[in-house]
Amino acid sequence: MAHARIEIAPSILASNFAKLGEEIRRVEEGGADVIHVDVMDGHFVPNISIGIPVVESIRKATRLPLDVHLMIETPEVYIDDFVRAGADRVLVHQEATVHLDRALSMIREAGAEAGAVINPATPVVMLTDILHKVDTVLVMSVNPGFGGQKFIPNAFEKIRHLNQWRARYNADFRIEVDGGVELENAAELAQAGANTFVAGTSIFHTPDPVEATRQLRRLAIDAVSQKV
Ligand code: DX5
Ligand code: ZN
Repeated sequence: MAHARIEIAPSILASNFAKLGEEIRRVEEGGADVIHVDVMDGHFVPNISIGIPVVESIRKATRLPLDVHLMIETPEVYIDDFVRAGADRVLVHQEATVHLDRALSMIREAGAEAGAVINPATPVVMLTDILHKVDTVLVMSVNPGFGGQKFIPNAFEKIRHLNQWRARYNADFRIEVDGGVELENAAELAQAGANTFVAGTSIFHTPDPVEATRQLRRLAIDAVSQKV
């Protein structure tokens, strides 16, 4: 089954930036599949994080795919720069551009995988007309801008909806979930149809991020294998 694949994508936003290389090595050791990089501009979201030079440095520090989550207005302006810096996947918010279709085409033309993201207040139907041109749909389960927030449960319904849509049209995109993902909700998220689990606090703010990555991965995989 193409969509049974589970991926853990630690979000480095919750890591110690002064020791980024070491932090990445720890989650690699725990079996991380992807590194999630949160880019914030202080306009689309009320916080500023990291940008192109940091993506370039991370690219040299790991062979894992880089999942670059752009929480910036008019992301199309920076797509080429992020792909050149080493992004394998670029995710843009539906709410951040009036030209979502164009932004997604630009990502693929630049040679990366394209992802569309929706905030908790945005319904899945906003993506209906572009679902054929994405590799990933990212459902935000917190309002973006900060790590460590509480999971908003309407994400479950959205993931189920996307999963049904994917089966009905034999479509081929991953379903990713980001915000408040932890051991307590990972099994249900996997059963709802989520493939890629972004986790910051529940990995890096634990005494043992290696073990936390491993546990989250095992739990999500087991939840899907039990179902099949
Ligand atoms: C929030 C970011 C998330 C964040 C998740 O705006 O998009 O990727 O790092 O952090 P946790 O897992 O702590 O909710
Ligand atoms: Zn994110």
